[in-house]
Amino acid sequence: MPRKRTPPFAQRLLAWWDQHGRHDLPWQHPRTPYRVWVSEIMLQQTQVGTVIPYFERWMRDFPDVPSLAAAPLDDVLSHWSGLGYYARARNLHSAAIQCMEEHGGNLPRGAEALSALPGIGLSTANAIVSQSTDLPAAVLDGNVRRVLARHAAVEGWTGQATVQKRLWMEAENRLPAERGADYTQAAMDLGAMLCTRSKPGCGHCPVRADCQARLRGLVGQLPTPKPATKVSDKTVHMLILRDSEGRVLLERRPPAGVWGGLWCLPDGDSIEAIERRLGSAVTQASPLPGLEHRLSHIRMTICPALADAVKPTQVQCPASRGWFERRQLPQLGLPKPVTDLLNRLHDGEFD
Ligand code: ADE
Repeated sequence: MPRKRTPPFAQRLLAWWDQHGRHDLPWQHPRTPYRVWVSEIMLQQTQVGTVIPYFERWMRDFPDVPSLAAAPLDDVLSHWSGLGYYARARNLHSAAIQCMEEHGGNLPRGAEALSALPGIGLSTANAIVSQSTDLPAAVLDGNVRRVLARHAAVEGWTGQATVQKRLWMEAENRLPAERGADYTQAAMDLGAMLCTRSKPGCGHCPVRADCQARLRGLVGQLPTPKPATKVSDKTVHMLILRDSEGRVLLERRPPAGVWGGLWCLPDGDSIEAIERRLGSAVTQASPLPGLEHRLSHIRMTICPALADAVKPTQVQCPASRGWFERRQLPQLGLPKPVTDLLNRLHDGEFD
């Protein structure tokens, strides 16, 4: 709930932001609900500097909810290629379709209706509301969580429900009476620019005077890190199979899971297993240099091989499999390592 009076925390934060904050981010001009939504989803796991060119290309090609809803999913995924966590793009697309069906082609106004759309949690919903309407609403993304965990000295991993609840309360208690949009940006900017995970710039912080972590010497310990998740190693074989016209066989992955919905090279536990699965005679596959690809908790070693199909027509092609020419690839959603491999193939590196 916004307050009648702006608490000192918000006053000092806004004064700092007026002088030092980020005022020229593309989604701030104009701050429409659609632009803010897309930016918030892109920024969920990705740095501002990486997001900006993706955001601009997206807005050029999908400037509003109807154009996004009408676009083929492959086109949407290809605009995401390289940003990772593709569920975010699939959710944007299905939420846009839902907005066409249920909200007359607009985003709904309130946080509750927004958070009923796929991919929008409460913090993102409030970030959209506050930035597009200027009404104060509490956000709790990674940056803000760090600021609050330190300012209020909240201990415990933020994945725990009790810790999460406490942080929401701290966020609500600090909201200003007005300037909701600037305040949301200011809280995020403080986390991104000064209250960083390592080497925070406490000397320049506008809320240092009553920062409980600083006063108790806990800045280095807070927020309490997530208990380490194990990284597992996985080896994946991928077959670049060409037909006589130089087209390459690609398979679309099922919607859920790693690279869900993206087009990939046929993969499996061994090249022989892939060949058996495809049910087509191929020439002797030549192994290509391996590559490493890191996902959130999988360290993937990709072992590619190159072969020509002896009788390409023997390969069954349901909707989720097909032969593709080089010029078709930019329209498909492809995972980064597959794009890299196909670029190297087409640049003649494997001849
Ligand atoms: N991360 C999430 N939202 C952001 C925003 N509006 N500006 C910068 N970083 C962000």
